[in-house]
Amino acid sequence: MLVLGIETSCDETAVAVVRDGREILSNVISSQVAVHARYGGVVPEVASRQHMLAITPIYRAALVEAGVAPTDLDAIAVTTGPGLAGSLLVGVNYAKGIAMGLGAPLYGMNHLEGHMYAGWLEDGATPEEAIGFPMVCLLVSGGHTELVLMRGHGDYELLGSTRDDAAGEAFDKAARVLGLGYPGGPAIQKTAELATRVEPLPRAWMRGTLEFSFSGLKTALLNKARELNIAVGLDQGAPAGLDEAGKERRNALAAGFQEAVVDVLVTKTLEAAEQHSARGVIVGGGVSANAALRAIIQAKSPVPVAIPRLVLCTDNGAMIAAAAFYAMQRGIQPNLAVDANPRQGLGP
Ligand code: KG4
Ligand code: ZN
Repeated sequence: MLVLGIETSCDETAVAVVRDGREILSNVISSQVAVHARYGGVVPEVASRQHMLAITPIYRAALVEAGVAPTDLDAIAVTTGPGLAGSLLVGVNYAKGIAMGLGAPLYGMNHLEGHMYAGWLEDGATPEEAIGFPMVCLLVSGGHTELVLMRGHGDYELLGSTRDDAAGEAFDKAARVLGLGYPGGPAIQKTAELATRVEPLPRAWMRGTLEFSFSGLKTALLNKARELNIAVGLDQGAPAGLDEAGKERRNALAAGFQEAVVDVLVTKTLEAAEQHSARGVIVGGGVSANAALRAIIQAKSPVPVAIPRLVLCTDNGAMIAAAAFYAMQRGIQPNLAVDANPRQGLGP
């Protein structure tokens, strides 16, 4: 079964062709990062327009790369939410057009469920075979930080989420304070890797819950950056203004920030796994590309951990196609009338 997956929930226009939920025939991603970088973050109106410009070429490229004709497609899957309303609408309407034109079934998919299913696109054993259910899923992206108990395909329980900023959002804001540009996650990681020491920052543990909070850490970073005279992104303009000693302090602060976020994410995920007797952990979403998070969760977890390769951590169409394939397996019905739902939650 060939499924076309379309993803436009944020700032990546992505289309993929996936066979039987696992085999990627193509996975074409057009990132808008360069367009948004000059504003220091994603501008929703700009994102919608970029999706409109990119979607047709990306759809065509996905078919060419997969070596299939539109009529070979058995189903169309598209992210309906959560995400930016205008961005979602572009993908949803495009998918409807294709599905109607081809007479193919259309499936509206949840973006977070897509991130969960990225692990099923890896070669070899599936998370289901390598780990087994129930598994705890840590979803960490620009818009979400959630712990989900996956008891089986389509059987999800939300264990906890963030009370304020998402982990990726915190990375992006920290990078902005430190004048490291957008997107912040990769920039903080690179800067932290240069550090020769770590500036300690506080963690919000939200004890007794599986919830997260990153806003206090963000404020602590801002205060420390001002105290150390390195809040170049906000107070002084050009990051080039830092001398060598300033750069050392900035590297240490980036390392302290990354360490605090990773420490909380890993600790709470492993707590969740223990509390729910999970057989293992899967991690997904843009922040799961973070090298420190990947290394530390693997090193500390007593149960197996599966994290997809980097291109499958950040937004892509293949994960949407994979999630749709497994939804079809459990009898979810197609619906040509799907609509964008920016605040869509996980679940039936
Ligand atoms: O899943 P994603 O591509 O889009 C959303 O669904 O939001 O996640 C994007 C987020 C951004 O906040 C970005 O800074 C973060 O993932 N990210 C990282 C890394 N790569 C991307 N955060 C930390 N370390 C990274 N290497
Ligand atoms: Zn995402």
